[in-house]
Amino acid sequence: MGQITLDKVSKSFGSTDVIHAVDLEIEDGEFVVFVGPSGCGKSTLLRLIAGLEDVTSGRIMIDGTDATGLAPAKRRLSMVFQSYALYPHMSVRQNIAFPLKMAGESKDSIERKVADAARTLNLADYLDRKPRQLSGGQRQRVAIGRAIVREPAAFLFDEPLSNLDAALRVNMRLEISELHQHLKTTMIYVTHDQVEAMTMADKIVVLNAGRIEQIGSPLDLYRNPANRFVAGFIGSPKMNFVEGDAARGQGGETIGVRPEHLDISTTDGAWKGTVGVSEHLGSDTFLHVHVDGQPTPITARTGGEFTLSHGDTVYLTPKAGKVHKFDGSGLAVR
Ligand SMILES: Nc1ncnc2c1ncn2[C@@H]1O[C@H](COP(=O)(O)OP(=O)(O)OP(=O)(O)O)[C@@H](O)[C@H]1O
Ligand SMILES: [Mg+2]
Repeated sequence: MGQITLDKVSKSFGSTDVIHAVDLEIEDGEFVVFVGPSGCGKSTLLRLIAGLEDVTSGRIMIDGTDATGLAPAKRRLSMVFQSYALYPHMSVRQNIAFPLKMAGESKDSIERKVADAARTLNLADYLDRKPRQLSGGQRQRVAIGRAIVREPAAFLFDEPLSNLDAALRVNMRLEISELHQHLKTTMIYVTHDQVEAMTMADKIVVLNAGRIEQIGSPLDLYRNPANRFVAGFIGSPKMNFVEGDAARGQGGETIGVRPEHLDISTTDGAWKGTVGVSEHLGSDTFLHVHVDGQPTPITARTGGEFTLSHGDTVYLTPKAGKVHKFDGSGLAVR
């Protein structure tokens, strides 16, 4: 259960086309992340799957049956939003139980499912509290609990962590991954954060302006981006794009090299430059190097103890086999 197929799904709002003939296969139990810049259509695509928006054309299949015209409640999907909207006057227990109560389940069954969800989500000690007595992360767990008890065929998450601070985001990211390992239920997770996409996904779907740019595992996309958009979107810090003589020296018109794939020397190398800003993160240093003929600095990643000063001369050399080449239209050349 939890296999979802999109067949040429398009969506327009009035005369604005937002989703363009999207084809997608989601396997049962997969953790799929939709990632892309703001406004690219991630939430719309998720809402189409949930049935909260009608498709303009195309078909949505859930577990082999046509769900295109089905009401949201009939699709057996649970959605968790960025703003988790708990009922403030209800306890945690009542919040989690709410969908089961609405569905008319027996008291025993509700108690058992709430207890299971609370155990899975480490909420057992908080069941009698009100939402205002919880931290942001705990509230988000209650919202997830409310989704879990419905035992859906798939979970749909729309940026569920973006209201949380950085440290809590990292924690919740791990908790959701762990939850997926435990439940083994299909999850579709929307984010604009490529780090979340890389760390959580079995399969990443990169969206841009309502179209799928590429689908693949995190490492597929990192190693073999299909085009400049994906190359620049996946990976942190971003891939450097280099043109002109510096690119031709490496056998391409436009090439891309990731910051972690540049060797740095003070004596010789492929590209001569001067150090601009260096960012010391403790574990790493990101060196921003001005190379002749390049409009923007080239970022190189090196060790945390690396010391070079603003204005020093450095040489950068792409590591063998790590140069990505792109044609005039931005497609990767293999
Ligand atoms: N009800 C609507 N009517 C008209 N246009 C809409 C509607 N909902 C969304 N859009 C437009 O559709 C496009 C995609 O919106 P969507 O919310 O899916 O983007 P998103 O990728 O989720 O962005 P974000 O990362 O900012 O949440 C945007 O250009 C948006 O303005
Ligand atoms: Mg959105």
